[in-house]
Amino acid sequence: MFVIGGPASEPLASKVANELGIVAGKLEVRRFPDGERYLRVLSDVRDQNVSIIQSIHHTPDELLFEYLLLADTMKDLGARKVIAFIPYFAYARQDERFQPGEALSFKTVSKVIQSVGTDEIYTIDMHQHRVIKSSEVFRIPFHNLSAMPLLANHIQKLGKLQNPLVIGPDAEAEKWAKLAAERLHTDYDVFEKTRLGDAKVEVRPRRSNASGRDVLIVDDIISTGGTIVEAVNVLHGQGAKRIQVACTHPILAPGALEKIKRTGVEDVIGTDTVPSPISVVTVAPLIAEQVRKSSD
Ligand code: R5P
Repeated sequence: MFVIGGPASEPLASKVANELGIVAGKLEVRRFPDGERYLRVLSDVRDQNVSIIQSIHHTPDELLFEYLLLADTMKDLGARKVIAFIPYFAYARQDERFQPGEALSFKTVSKVIQSVGTDEIYTIDMHQHRVIKSSEVFRIPFHNLSAMPLLANHIQKLGKLQNPLVIGPDAEAEKWAKLAAERLHTDYDVFEKTRLGDAKVEVRPRRSNASGRDVLIVDDIISTGGTIVEAVNVLHGQGAKRIQVACTHPILAPGALEKIKRTGVEDVIGTDTVPSPISVVTVAPLIAEQVRKSSD
């Protein structure tokens, strides 16, 4: 079992290694004066199954390139297998040509990740539900894990909500709302969302009424916070009581967290797929479990 964190995910890789009772591999990464990346693997990886953890979130082009250098180097140094753990998989949202001539970024990124000898890919709550199916772009095993049960466990531990209604703010969030509701042994529903611009959305309720109920809102990503703020406004309009918010990937554009907190929600939590001030839940156990299985 060999685990190493790329520059974006070293703390997460250390936590995963800790869960497994091993020490994470070491890297030297710096820049040449002209801005090019220098990377050196400081561990012996010959004949090892190497699990690389590198989230591709803010500055995605840079972090993707670091992953490519790292994976290719591992294979070159004699690694038997390279398993990519990409907790946040940037570009997954551009999985469709919305306007003629647009790049199908998800397809391109998937191609290059495979081209450097990646043997298997794991990601977490990937935002990819439209035209391109992951099986259409990956020739290698691909797994989309979910952090929702871990987030729901944390919400339960906080113990502030009584029999909460779980709400996904749009139709795509249904699978996450369902997972969280199952863990909390409660009911769920989703809203209908129309995107009016990069930071502007409109949210309408569907079946459920949150009147007099505590509510947990769950989503994969919080970026500008617009979706969550609109969902909270609808819930307040219905007469909801306490509201908590949980997301897997706290991308958090500047001002997003403040905007959400101003609505009066009790807590906003996220995971460490993307390091942030609200990354209070670690996905390390989820990743460690898969590393363990893949090395059996
Ligand atoms: C989109 O459908 C995603 O699931 C999230 O709802 C979205 O990315 C959140 O973005 P924002 O925080 O900018 O509203």
